Amino acid sequence: MERVPATRLTYPDLRTERLLLRRLRRSDRHDLYAYGQQPEVTRYLLWDSYRSLEDVDQFLTATFQHYQLGEPASWGIEELATGVVVGTLSYVDFQPRHHRVEIGYALSPACWGRGYMTEAINRLLAYSFDNLELNRVEARVIPENVPSARVLRKCGFQRDGVLRENLFSRGAYHDVEVYSLLAREWRAMRMGS
Ligand SMILES: CC(C)(COP(=O)(O)OP(=O)(O)OC[C@H]1O[C@@H](n2cnc3c(N)ncnc32)[C@H](O)[C@@H]1OP(=O)(O)O)[C@@H](O)C(=O)NCCC(=O)NCCS
Repeated sequence: MERVPATRLTYPDLRTERLLLRRLRRSDRHDLYAYGQQPEVTRYLLWDSYRSLEDVDQFLTATFQHYQLGEPASWGIEELATGVVVGTLSYVDFQPRHHRVEIGYALSPACWGRGYMTEAINRLLAYSFDNLELNRVEARVIPENVPSARVLRKCGFQRDGVLRENLFSRGAYHDVEVYSLLAREWRAMRMGS
């Protein structure tokens, strides 16, 4: 019989050694603004830096609606030591029929280089493959975004290829690299570690 995956996403709490991935709350607006207004965060992203708390509120209102409808949305990344939300890790596209999801992510520059995003993505991979029983997790990266590609490689992703001039953003066309990790590769990696 054909496997029938869940079609609605639920966003449970996901814990790691140093982080808690959890649903965003209205009270996170100042934390999100603190890093989301910094241009280096959005340099390779499709959204513009926040100009005001109202921009954050719009994002949160849309996020709460997505939670309610079980649609692709963001987990907040809470740093356990401080209780501060220092980033988001998101499902940006969900194709239950094809057992596939695409992820996106952003972290406060104050926390870059500590392995946080690698830790968070690894937790989301376990949830995606073990709990949702998905077959493929995908991510898209602009080639200049070397740290992002590095994080994906560290998590075991492979580069599928490049979509040439697939994006028009901030006045220029951009190539987009597609990375993916399959369930069987994830299981093989886990067996090996
Ligand atoms: C991409 C991002 C999430 C990485 O988060 P992070 O927690 O700093 O990532 P990690 O610490 O797990 O790993 C970063 C890796 O990139 C490497 N790196 C960082 N800057 C680099 C550079 N300029 N050139 C080469 N490698 C670099 C780090 O050394 C590290 O690799 P290592 O563990 O082998 O040393 C973070 O930089 C970010 O939020 N960027 C802005 C938003 C964004 O671009 N999101 C991705 C969209 S596709």
